[in-house]
Amino acid sequence: MTTLFDPITVGDIALSNRIAMAPLTRNRAPNAVPTPLMATYYAQRATAGLLITEATAISHQGQGYADVPGLYAPEQIAGWKGVTAAVHQAGGRIVTQLWHVGRVSHTELQPGQGAPVAPSAIRAHTKTVLLKDGAPVFVDTSEPRALDIAELPGIVEDYRRAALAAIEAGFDGVEIHAANGYLLDQFLKTGSNQRTDAYGGSIENRARLLMEVVAAVVGAIGGGRTGIRLSPVTPANDIIDADPQPLFTHVVQQLAPHGLAYVHVIEGATGGPRELADRPFDYAALKAAYRAAGGKAAWMVNNGYDLALANQAVADGADVVAFGRPFISNPDLVQRLRVGGPFNEPDRNTFYGGGAQGYTDYPVLG
Ligand code: PHB
Repeated sequence: MTTLFDPITVGDIALSNRIAMAPLTRNRAPNAVPTPLMATYYAQRATAGLLITEATAISHQGQGYADVPGLYAPEQIAGWKGVTAAVHQAGGRIVTQLWHVGRVSHTELQPGQGAPVAPSAIRAHTKTVLLKDGAPVFVDTSEPRALDIAELPGIVEDYRRAALAAIEAGFDGVEIHAANGYLLDQFLKTGSNQRTDAYGGSIENRARLLMEVVAAVVGAIGGGRTGIRLSPVTPANDIIDADPQPLFTHVVQQLAPHGLAYVHVIEGATGGPRELADRPFDYAALKAAYRAAGGKAAWMVNNGYDLALANQAVADGADVVAFGRPFISNPDLVQRLRVGGPFNEPDRNTFYGGGAQGYTDYPVLG
């Protein structure tokens, strides 16, 4: 019987086990440049079958939080080279998560202090993080402006360039972030997309920008180095769709021919309940629709997994299980899962911003 600890190849990437480290925002990249401390942090966790970096801005416009890293300037690529080299030296595999936050941003973080951009000028009732004297401060996101249709090819190009930059920086691949109420998810869902052009209205139209991004990234670096993250029903960042099952059925059917490395699905509310009474969703049907359309990518599941739930998921046919918060406080999470614990508890006060404390100082098993 297959277990979590068995190797698997996802697209072009050979993993030593089926445990992924989920993307986790840590706000420790001043001026959006990855640091040697980040290299240490990721290398400490390199026994994960796959490390997915914290969400990483594809452009200055795509940034929405203080001190999150980017992948659009030479010094950022140079910083990431230090991270990928350290992870590979430690025997790990690492992809980076390509991020455009859309409306989940603040004028202070935008080029020229402009308004954040969105499918429609509808504000997200959510918070972002600014740093004041090095300490995280949670503030309301700013009122966005609707993107002109003429701006969309430039955003697709930013994804393509960031994917190429990722390969230049030594990553094994990329994950397109289409989840959690950020730009691509904002286009997908009715609560944030009220456009009347070719990018709004029907499911096909709302999925158009995502599919253009997928085609551009796959065209640049290959499907075997490209993953995608989806969150059909999460309320994160004030996102909602009126009818998510047919929307995401269409999305995975369109993804199927791209030969992706993996499809990463957040089940339920990001970092919260796996089942939402007011937002039911059939994940088995989603996977079945993807397979029926010929999709062969690894199926990666995420949200609130512990060892028992992860074993059950693998027994039920999941290919990879992504763990988030447990990786913050357990750099050797794979070994701890193997022996059944114990597990260090994470310190929430050091999640966002700061230095080594609560970042690279969690102990491994003796
Ligand atoms: C966050 O920084 O809070 C964050 C980033 C990316 C996500 C979710 C949350 O996908």
